[in-house]
Amino acid sequence: MTANTQTPLRHHIKDASLAEAGRLRVEWASKEMPVLRQIRENFSKEKPLKGLRIGACLHVTTETANLITTLRDGGADVALCASNPLSTQDDVAAHLVHNEGISVFAIKGEDNETYYSHILSVLDHAPHITMDDGADLVSVLHTKRRELLSNIIGGTEETTTGVIRLRSMEKDNTLEYPIIAVNDANTKHLFDNRYGTGQSTLDGILRATNTLICGKYFVIAGYGWCGKGLAMRAKGHGAKVIITEIDPLKALEAVMDGFEVMTMKEAAKIGDIFCTVTGNINVIRKEHFLLMKNGAIVSNSGHFNVEICIPALEEIAVSKRTTRSFVEEYTLPNERTINLLAEGRLINLASAEGHPALVMDMSFANQAMAAEYLVSYSKEFKKKVYKVPEKIDQKIALLKLRTLGVKIDSLTAEQKEYLASWQMGT
Ligand code: ADE
Repeated sequence: MTANTQTPLRHHIKDASLAEAGRLRVEWASKEMPVLRQIRENFSKEKPLKGLRIGACLHVTTETANLITTLRDGGADVALCASNPLSTQDDVAAHLVHNEGISVFAIKGEDNETYYSHILSVLDHAPHITMDDGADLVSVLHTKRRELLSNIIGGTEETTTGVIRLRSMEKDNTLEYPIIAVNDANTKHLFDNRYGTGQSTLDGILRATNTLICGKYFVIAGYGWCGKGLAMRAKGHGAKVIITEIDPLKALEAVMDGFEVMTMKEAAKIGDIFCTVTGNINVIRKEHFLLMKNGAIVSNSGHFNVEICIPALEEIAVSKRTTRSFVEEYTLPNERTINLLAEGRLINLASAEGHPALVMDMSFANQAMAAEYLVSYSKEFKKKVYKVPEKIDQKIALLKLRTLGVKIDSLTAEQKEYLASWQMGT
């Protein structure tokens, strides 16, 4: 490991010798991130983030590397740590430190203590803007490093779980600065959560297990955008998809989309592969493990490793062994085995590479433009969670369409008038 606290460029990463491999993979991802590239070109000329320090807590992936260099080219001084202990791509971390001169604190497989020490290292950077994925950076800043709050202009949040935490901080009047909920932009969740999670979760399960999906009962807990995307892709692979939900509307939507909907207790007896994407705690519990078939595969693609009650599995298991990378086989008293993937951490980033660059292009275009927007209008914000302005969302959609070579129609004058009038009927 290269730990360096003496020189101005501080970092803690796994292996500097991975930097060249990281460079090539980051370059590969950049080819499918044309919207972000365009923003980077503008940022390089206009330097909208000049003189600002950004503290970022994001999954350290090839796509994130392209965001970080975009922010750097916009004039920001960026420090980066991982937003999950298992999601770091060590070659990317090495590339950012040794080829791009960015302070990175992230090692794949780091323990919880190291994970939080890395967050503190990013906060030592005394950021003006926080860029979070899951709100751990914001949470540590508000609890352990409150003296730094006076520096902050605002922040951005990448994911559903983080936005939920921030909204509850806002409700409790504990949020100390404005945050833009990047997740809630249409060009983010409709694509990244749905198509990104759909594909990358299956990719993660396949890389970890090499199991055949077709013909299997694939149980998905949660029918939000991530669950919808995963259900669509699992069905495409020929799985018999079962949805579990607590929200009647989402459950009804799943029924009308053609999926079986039932309780987890019923699904536990039938499922071959399970994946949680609810954002909630203890969705698969002891009573469910005890009902599962021999050899069931259990995974999570939600942000935190709380959706599967692992302490209960540890409690009831008579033995446990690692059978493949990211596969832990638990044997229960009934002699059945359960295969837990990636310690219940997000499988799409733990055993695969996260969402593909083509969707992250839009998510990270939102991040970059939200940071610019925060700086431009800093005086107008209150200590609240804000939406990405519709103008930015629309602009990103249009740019993305352009890069895909897709042209669309525009309203005629007559159509504009029609939409603006209430007198006209049949
Ligand atoms: N979240 C999900 N996929 C990701 C990726 N490829 N990069 C950064 N964050 C992600």
